[in-house]
Amino acid sequence: MNISYKLLDTSKRGSLPSGDLPFGALRTDHMFVADYHDGEWHDPRIVPYGPFEILPGAMCLHYGQTLFEGIKAFPHPDGEIYLFRGDENIKRLNHSARIMLMPEVPAELQMEGMMRLLDIERNWCPKEHESSMYVRPFMFATQDSLGVKASASYTYCVMLSPSGPYYKGGFSKALRLLITKQYHRAVSGGTGSSKCGGNYGASLRAQAYAATKGCSQVLYLDAANKYIEEVGTMNHYHVMKDGTFIIPEFNDSILRSVTSLSVLELGQAGIIKARTEHIALDDFLAGLKSGDIIEAGGFGTAAVVSPVGTYLLEDGTEITVGDGGIGKHSRDLYTYYSGIQTGRQAAPQGWLLKVPRYV
Ligand code: COI
Repeated sequence: MNISYKLLDTSKRGSLPSGDLPFGALRTDHMFVADYHDGEWHDPRIVPYGPFEILPGAMCLHYGQTLFEGIKAFPHPDGEIYLFRGDENIKRLNHSARIMLMPEVPAELQMEGMMRLLDIERNWCPKEHESSMYVRPFMFATQDSLGVKASASYTYCVMLSPSGPYYKGGFSKALRLLITKQYHRAVSGGTGSSKCGGNYGASLRAQAYAATKGCSQVLYLDAANKYIEEVGTMNHYHVMKDGTFIIPEFNDSILRSVTSLSVLELGQAGIIKARTEHIALDDFLAGLKSGDIIEAGGFGTAAVVSPVGTYLLEDGTEITVGDGGIGKHSRDLYTYYSGIQTGRQAAPQGWLLKVPRYV
């Protein structure tokens, strides 16, 4: 693939600040960009990070034809940087593209774009515990048109954000979640299984509502308020007394978290016990009360494993999970999983790809 480079002079490049990193706020010096028009992808390039020129009529600004991914890369003890399960995110980006009537981005274009960018920006890769290079591929519609239809042109971009943990304090504090019957993230037949920007814009109101009740996120139910679906930006899990992780069965209103897929694969390999299930809210609450369910939380790329200590119902009832802190199974899984990501634990075949040294 012919990727062109227009790089900043070394003297104009930035560097990683010292101290604790925020999540998602920092940028590196460059980004990868490619444009789609006339039915093809054109001009893949690495250029300095900076503004796009789009017209006010660009369709992404009006009708929300945008999507994104979130992937992490980690420095390993061998001094190299490894991308974690990027191939799964590449497939998911194209799944989102099909749902949003956007063009698929060829897997080689996505992978080489990410890898070449990571190679150039390797000095930005943070080494602190719980930090990573967060890779953010995204695509948006650029055609200048006000007709409601799929755009004829798009831009695909990858930018990097050296990041600390998603929740401040990292894996040290259990979350408090609001179970809402008032707000919904997605419905059957909608766009819930895609990572389109609209799903996240639509979630802000529920998140703000949760904050008014001292909760960091909401637990979403299906539109009939019967089954458990997702947690804020994560998949939900709970742990049964025998240590089995249960994840809500995937459907077209749930995003397939790569973390959940990985946990299920660890289950298939016999390393942990994990399965999916259609989980009725009433059964879940009864399980928490009886002690059959001993832990719960969320899985996601950004937040990894985020245990929940308390669920709040909209009538004010509080339900504590276990002793309200971080349970053993969640902690063990987090340690094992982050060990794989950072090269301290053997990884299943194909989960980590070394960033090549191209330049
Ligand atoms: C991720 O886990 O990558 C997410 O989707 C969270 C992101 C919206 C910050």
